[in-house]
Amino acid sequence: MITKDQITQLYEEAVKVRKNSYSPYSKFKVGAALLLDDNKIITGTNVENSSYGLTMCAERNALFTAIAQGYKKENILAILVVANTDGPCSPCGACRQVISELMDKDADVILTNRKNDIKEFKVKDLLPFTFTKEDLNV
Ligand code: THU
Repeated sequence: MITKDQITQLYEEAVKVRKNSYSPYSKFKVGAALLLDDNKIITGTNVENSSYGLTMCAERNALFTAIAQGYKKENILAILVVANTDGPCSPCGACRQVISELMDKDADVILTNRKNDIKEFKVKDLLPFTFTKEDLNV
């Protein structure tokens, strides 16, 4: 489990990037922050489109940036998500699938909101019976 200080740092960065959310349609701003094993933090926010289905979630934007920067599954220690929800913000199903593939099963998932609610999971608890590359049989 990452430390309380690390969670605070991730939270601050996720709150910061959330301000950049491009969400004119839903008006629902989400921030995500990843902690890497070199102590770097990579962030992402949701980006919507007038063709709604093209919207990309904050979590996937952060993870895809980490991959583009050369980080691998084993380098990503945690993901934190924040939105202005009643309870801790829950990642959508598509993001759970991507998190399951790009993060280690024992990495930390920290769900938060703007009221200091927090829920901590492991990646393996987010999506049971995940579709994996083994299912492809290639
Ligand atoms: N959204 C995220 O960024 N992450 C989630 O896990 C849930 C949903 C975004 C997508 C869309 O821009 C807005 O929130 C409303 O669904």
